[in-house]
Amino acid sequence: MTQDLITFIGRFHPVWVHLPIGFLIIAVLFKGNAVLGKKSALDEAVSFALLLGAISAFIAAVLGFLLSQSGGYEGKLLDIHLAAGWITVLLGGIAWWVNKNEQRFSKTLNYSVLGLLILALTITGHFGGSLTHGEDYLTAYVPFGKNQGESQRILSSVEEAELYADLIQPIFKSKCESCHRSGKAKGELMLISFESLLKGGENGPVIIPANPEKSELIRRVTLLPDHEDFMPAEGKKPLTEEEIQLITWWIEKGKADPKFTLMAADEALIAWAIPRLKIQGTELIQAIGIDSIQIQQLEKKGFRVRILSPQSGALDVVLPEEMAKSQASELLKALLPIKENVYWLSMAGTGIKDSDLTLISQFSNLRRLRIENNPISDDGIAALKNLTQLEVLNLNGTRISPTGLGPLAEIKSLRSLYLWNTAVNPQDEWVLKMNSDKVKVVFGS
Ligand code: HEC
Repeated sequence: MTQDLITFIGRFHPVWVHLPIGFLIIAVLFKGNAVLGKKSALDEAVSFALLLGAISAFIAAVLGFLLSQSGGYEGKLLDIHLAAGWITVLLGGIAWWVNKNEQRFSKTLNYSVLGLLILALTITGHFGGSLTHGEDYLTAYVPFGKNQGESQRILSSVEEAELYADLIQPIFKSKCESCHRSGKAKGELMLISFESLLKGGENGPVIIPANPEKSELIRRVTLLPDHEDFMPAEGKKPLTEEEIQLITWWIEKGKADPKFTLMAADEALIAWAIPRLKIQGTELIQAIGIDSIQIQQLEKKGFRVRILSPQSGALDVVLPEEMAKSQASELLKALLPIKENVYWLSMAGTGIKDSDLTLISQFSNLRRLRIENNPISDDGIAALKNLTQLEVLNLNGTRISPTGLGPLAEIKSLRSLYLWNTAVNPQDEWVLKMNSDKVKVVFGS
């Protein structure tokens, strides 16, 4: 038989198994009714149902064996399921024969065989279910104890998010795990934990840290969907462009380090990822002392407001370029009542001027500030030195010059400074000094 034919026939196993289950259970129920209800008319039916049960169980076992040959199923779960399956077939046969020759055997033997039969059937069914649906299928939604079905942990703020645990593993869980887990590891690859990912599959490692081009996993998900190596296989829902970018980024820049944080990724990736994280109590705007009406009003004015951490009340506020309509200075004033809560602020390309920076310098909790592509010059920038928490500052495409940068050196918290498309050069003395002070000065988009 060819491999395809074996697989084709084997796949009837999951459907067929319901037949012997039904026959054997009805046989036992009839038996109970015949004995307790003293309905001897049912005796014939018990034997007949046991015979049908034993025969259909035999066929199910053969189909199951063929399915196991089609590959991808292995391990302890399969061994137990297979053994229990054959024991069920055997007990089904014995039960039929004992029941048919009832007068020759004791009642105890007759009932014991039936009891064992139901036990074997239950064990077979349970391990079969675990093989197809995953080991935690039954217990994933138990209403008590810790919920192991939950793949995504709940974070108390975005800063805690790790690329692998909080974003990549949930992608694998929803799109790959059905074929790559214990008991059903296609290509001998499991994608259920960082360790199993690192271990790789039958052809060795599937990710090479710092080298996405050489990583088999990336190759597989970026092939054309009709290529035979394309993953996920069998027309399952493919990864999105962003999901692929995220994994690639993690392998390349994060060197596939499981502790690599989302905050270390670039802005676009962070913006994409935030709505996918589970951040504790993000729905409870009241908890942070800002009423939701206030936020709604800001949104009506054109701001996008997002809660970064309900504990600290941290907000990410963005004024999109197209909403500014040359009124950025006016709009900025609307943020003053919540200025302590603005941890991230983006006013990129909105047309803010030097005079507006004095206002921004009052936002004393700012961690990230994006004011690129604005007519800002050295005169205004000095005000920013008051931002003692600032970590990331984007000044790309502004009129800043080397002379104006001096005050920024006073911001001890600064980690990244973007100066692409300005009059500043990577060789400027000031830039070299900043770099040696562990501030990453970035030239380039
Ligand atoms: C419908 C089942 C199915 C799904 C879903 C699936 N795979 Fe696979 N995968 C297979 C099979 C079957 C093989 C082995 C045959 C082969 O190498 O193409 C395999 C093999 C692989 C291999 C090669 C392992 C090795 O060492 O040869 C990689 C890498 C892989 N899959 C990644 C993924 C990723 C990533 C996803 C999710 C985006 C995924 N797979 C989802 C069925 C699946």
